[in-house]
Amino acid sequence: MERDKNIVILGTGGTIAGVAEQAGASVGYRAAQLGVAQLLQAVPDLERVAGASLQAEQLAQLDSKDMDHATWHALALRCAELLARDDVSGIVITHGTDTLEETAWFLQCVLRPAKPVVLTCAMRPATAISADGPGNLRDAVACAADTQAAGRGVLAVVAGRVFSARQVRKVHPYRVDAFDGSGAGPQGWVEEGLLRWATGGLPGAAAAGSPAIALPPAGQWPQVELLHSHAGCNSAVALAVMQAWHAAGVRAVVVVGTGNGTVHQALGPALDWAQAQGMALRITTRCEEGQVVQAEGALDGRVSSLPAAKARISLMLELMGWPRALG
Ligand code: SIN
Repeated sequence: MERDKNIVILGTGGTIAGVAEQAGASVGYRAAQLGVAQLLQAVPDLERVAGASLQAEQLAQLDSKDMDHATWHALALRCAELLARDDVSGIVITHGTDTLEETAWFLQCVLRPAKPVVLTCAMRPATAISADGPGNLRDAVACAADTQAAGRGVLAVVAGRVFSARQVRKVHPYRVDAFDGSGAGPQGWVEEGLLRWATGGLPGAAAAGSPAIALPPAGQWPQVELLHSHAGCNSAVALAVMQAWHAAGVRAVVVVGTGNGTVHQALGPALDWAQAQGMALRITTRCEEGQVVQAEGALDGRVSSLPAAKARISLMLELMGWPRALG
């Protein structure tokens, strides 16, 4: 049956496509084993429930702990192509849970899509007794097909909740509802295939028109690393690490600070040395909630309001000419 909406489902791997050798097991499985077409077959009547025609494409097949810039580049380019097509109303991406929030933020920054782009995942492999992938996939498709999803930018749907790319984060290594909204509630819920929105979209989440994406090949993206501040930091070790990073071509560092963006004094020489070499620096906090609140003039505008892994992405994009407003 011909339907008005047409959603493309891009498979990238993850536990949602995982298989355990031991029947029913929830751990000790191999992620990224089943193709996205097989994932769709596990959801009965999906096109009818979503009221949309579905097409599946396998974009990658990996455990998302191994996510890389080349895959991000391919994913962003494919999303941009699809979003520019009049006959595509939205995109769902099946993904591993471990770096889902990073991929969501990366896509949000480079696409700012006016049409829905919805990531989903699973905490249990497809062969588990309590596999959560089919339900999450059904909810993500329902979200992408919902008329109010447009204009909210990139979203993540997990365990019946909808989160924005900026807020979504994985907070539990095992639980099925492993994600939260970084102190904010979900944008909405999916219940029996129906969306119940709690809020309007975040301001500026979507840009008018087609996404403008112009990235160099992934091999040319600037390498940005994370340096953690913690009790017992060692000056000589930190300097040696920084010098090795610089020699390996690292262009910038996000310092994962303590508390309100404070940094162990032993990291000072390494950071001064990095700055003298022209490496870009950002400081964020390792605190789970909130963000660094600066005194006026402090830290020279080097603070990021994002959690470290997303701050790394924003800084990398900034070094490629993206606006600083990305956080
Ligand atoms: C992955 O991130 O690809 C594996 C773990 C998961 O999806 O839960």
